[in-house]
Amino acid sequence: MSTVSPSLDLDFVRSYFPALQSGFTFMDNAGGSQTLKPVVDKISEYLLHSDVQHGASYEVSVKAGEKVNDAIRELATLINAQDEKEVVMGPSSTMMFRILSLTLSKDWQAGDEVITTNSEHEANCSPWMDLKERGIVVKIWETDPETLEFNLEDLEKLITEKTRLVTMVHASNILGTINPVADVAAVVHKAGALFCVDGVALAPHRLIDVQAMDVDFYVFSCYKVYGPHSALMYGKLHLLEALPGINHYFIDEVPYKIQPGNKNFELTYGMSGLTDYLREVHDHHYPSDISSSDQEKFQKSFDLFATHEEQLANRLIDYLNSRPDVVVLGEASGDKNKRVATISFYHKTLSSSDFVVQVDPYRIGIRFGDFYAKKMVESLNLIEKDGVIRVSLVHYNTLEEVDALIRVMETIS
Ligand SMILES: Cc1ncc(COP(=O)(O)O)c(C=O)c1O
Repeated sequence: MSTVSPSLDLDFVRSYFPALQSGFTFMDNAGGSQTLKPVVDKISEYLLHSDVQHGASYEVSVKAGEKVNDAIRELATLINAQDEKEVVMGPSSTMMFRILSLTLSKDWQAGDEVITTNSEHEANCSPWMDLKERGIVVKIWETDPETLEFNLEDLEKLITEKTRLVTMVHASNILGTINPVADVAAVVHKAGALFCVDGVALAPHRLIDVQAMDVDFYVFSCYKVYGPHSALMYGKLHLLEALPGINHYFIDEVPYKIQPGNKNFELTYGMSGLTDYLREVHDHHYPSDISSSDQEKFQKSFDLFATHEEQLANRLIDYLNSRPDVVVLGEASGDKNKRVATISFYHKTLSSSDFVVQVDPYRIGIRFGDFYAKKMVESLNLIEKDGVIRVSLVHYNTLEEVDALIRVMETIS
């Protein structure tokens, strides 16, 4: 096994994303990443040659079903699920949280409690808030107002014997801060409650290991992880089996009973283009380790991404920190153990919209707004500034692109 870590070969990874050849600089990746060519190829291959209903006895149907099942197995390996039945597919993370809230709460009683946080994208907030109509008590775990980080002691004070679920974001889609979900899981489980995590803003940047985190449910959106508009929800098998179904009354198999309308076949199959890519990234950088396990390959590819993204984040944050007229929100370093490269800030005098429209003519896509984490932006008193300015970088961005953005920002005051 080689010991020296190579650096990410940018030409190699960028060659997998045709959109990057346009010369446009994509820095709104937390809104949606560019799509891998292997993903697009698989989607079109499926639609052109396998586009039939599954479950019939004829050959094309059998083969189409096998393709999609193979892709589900790939995704189960990717997130280190124990069983492929733990992978639930749906149209969006927003829909996944809604479905989860509908099914999970079916046997909850008035007075039962749910805890969510003030750092959520609304997708992991409204479905729980709406349960108030049924007498469910919803509590909000607030970040420390100074550090914008969570203290476990605050959670411990909120949990009671009536707490049924704690649900929180793994990385904030505004701050980029990585929350200590494995530690939270231990506290939640000690209290006998369930733990759900919104991994949407983390999944493009780090390998997800659902067993290591000991989460009960974990959700992310494929279109932010170099794939198409669909979403994945992991659930522990025994919990999914116990959930009341929300599909037709005669469907009780997992995960179909909580996949109303079924999964999208071509988009699910397309996602196996991501695991192919991660293997190829590994084998390109570690040619003497090509017999490593899939899990090892996925981990080492994401480690390459994280190290590169840390350099990008440091370059941008160091620049922003040097400007007296700008305030970086959350962790003010690129430290990969603390944050992903989703970086938000505001300008002390300009509104966020006035700032961003001055960048637009340079064909660099950054963005302003609340990014549906409205409650957080409200609590930061930034609504009147048109929200925050967000630059969200992923592994295919380059230091040259960050430098080009910095040169443009130098002209804005
Ligand atoms: C942290 C987070 N959670 C949930 C969502 C919603 O995902 P989807 O668009 O798949 O519904 C987003 C979308 O931006 C997000 O950033």
